[in-house]
Amino acid sequence: MEEVLYKLHFDDLEVTSLVSEPWGTYSLFETEVSDHQAEQLKIFKALEKDLTLFNANSFGNQVHFQFSYQIPVQRWFPYREGYSIKLVNSFIKELKISGNVFDPFSGSGTTLLSARNNNLDSFGIDVNPISVLVAKIENDKYSMTDIEGIKIQIETIKALEGPKQEYQTAFNLAHKTFNKDILQSLLHFKKYIKSIQNEKIRDLVFVAWLSIIEDVSNIKKEGNGIKYKNRKRTPNGYINIDREAWEKQNFPDDKFLFVKLKLIKQLEIILYDIINNYGLSEKKPKIFRGSCLEFNKLFNDEIEFTFFSPPYCNCFDYFEIHKVELWLGEFVKNSDDFKKLRNTGFRSNTNSLNCKPIIYKNENLESLISLFDPEKIWNPRIPNIVRGYLDDMHTLLNKLYSQTVNGGHVGIVVGNSAYSGVIIPTDILIAHIAKEIGFKVKNVFITRHLTTSSQQKQELEYLKNYLRESIVILEK
Ligand SMILES: C[S@@+](CC[C@H](N)C(=O)[O-])C[C@H]1O[C@@H](n2cnc3c(N)ncnc32)[C@H](O)[C@@H]1O
Repeated sequence: MEEVLYKLHFDDLEVTSLVSEPWGTYSLFETEVSDHQAEQLKIFKALEKDLTLFNANSFGNQVHFQFSYQIPVQRWFPYREGYSIKLVNSFIKELKISGNVFDPFSGSGTTLLSARNNNLDSFGIDVNPISVLVAKIENDKYSMTDIEGIKIQIETIKALEGPKQEYQTAFNLAHKTFNKDILQSLLHFKKYIKSIQNEKIRDLVFVAWLSIIEDVSNIKKEGNGIKYKNRKRTPNGYINIDREAWEKQNFPDDKFLFVKLKLIKQLEIILYDIINNYGLSEKKPKIFRGSCLEFNKLFNDEIEFTFFSPPYCNCFDYFEIHKVELWLGEFVKNSDDFKKLRNTGFRSNTNSLNCKPIIYKNENLESLISLFDPEKIWNPRIPNIVRGYLDDMHTLLNKLYSQTVNGGHVGIVVGNSAYSGVIIPTDILIAHIAKEIGFKVKNVFITRHLTTSSQQKQELEYLKNYLRESIVILEK
């Protein structure tokens, strides 16, 4: 049941306010609700008090990358954790932003692409070296000479002959992740790419090479991790198709030609987008590699609009999901490198939990943690992960507050999560922390509802409306 109290106009989008009981038609008196659920609901209601929640289903297909796989420039690298340029454009327009734009988790650089399209100066930070490289290449400006350089590379790659030596890689899962000849072909192209003299063109061809890796491999990024493509889900559970038979079915005989054609096709797409002037504005963003928590003062300039999507508090590990590209692309050379990199990430998963102390305490979160069932929780570190998550968020929001101009805005795209039948409502927890710091919480847009594991599904039926992905808008 919805009541239209407010109408905001984001081009073709319409958002409506939620009724006062956002969990819908359920009521404590009509349904049998466990104490455990009633307790959660009480906390959620307290957190939602004074907040303006909007149903914004029309943003639902913009908070993820689904359509961006086809969008010029964004399609240069499949960054499935990204959102759409259109989403950021809507807020830049609606909030009439004219000053500096910032993204502390810039990923593939979507916020920066949008800032650029709107002729605004922008800055981005990310811990993942692949993200930084992709964002830099996608946000660069290409001259006629660069275009000629890319064309030459396409022709040179077309003429390249297959490997005549056996290449080695430090990635110890390479033999499982790739067909042997595909791996050799990839390494052969990498060797060639490294020999390209012009750094800008070399990096661009390298991004094209990185972007085809998953497609030509035996694995796919799915859910919270990496899955083997020859492992299929059936009504009776998972089955493994014989790997050799699967490779025979899925890859042609000439593996070198197969990889070469994928690389050329990707380079041709990139060239097409450059020639067609997508995103060709004078404003080139500044992109830094590192943790957004490590900057004492983020920038000299004040920020008018920060728009970002942090890792969600759902144990998704960004380094694990990109590990094949990180290893094969030599961004990490040994397990120590990999471990160190993981430790720089936001505390959102079991691998990012380092020895950092937890300073910020949130009473609502502690009440929710006290409802965790220790028997059902799949990792004993989870309570400290969610605490660490809010501690990191608190640090970041404080930094943002001190660097945002008065009247400036912050937009956060975030998803809630659940552990042992307890929902962690990150959207309203973040809104609560922001208020403590001094921000005004302008709106919370609920963009879509999320699903959870089948074990938790039934248990969370009553509270399922809180399993959602939202956009929290703050104003200084
Ligand atoms: C949801 S993704 C952002 C996607 C981005 N909005 C886009 O459209 O491509 C979150 C990003 O946060 C990055 N990240 C994780 N911990 C970080 C930290 N401490 N500082 C900066 N970036 C971090 C990850 O590498 C990942 O790229």
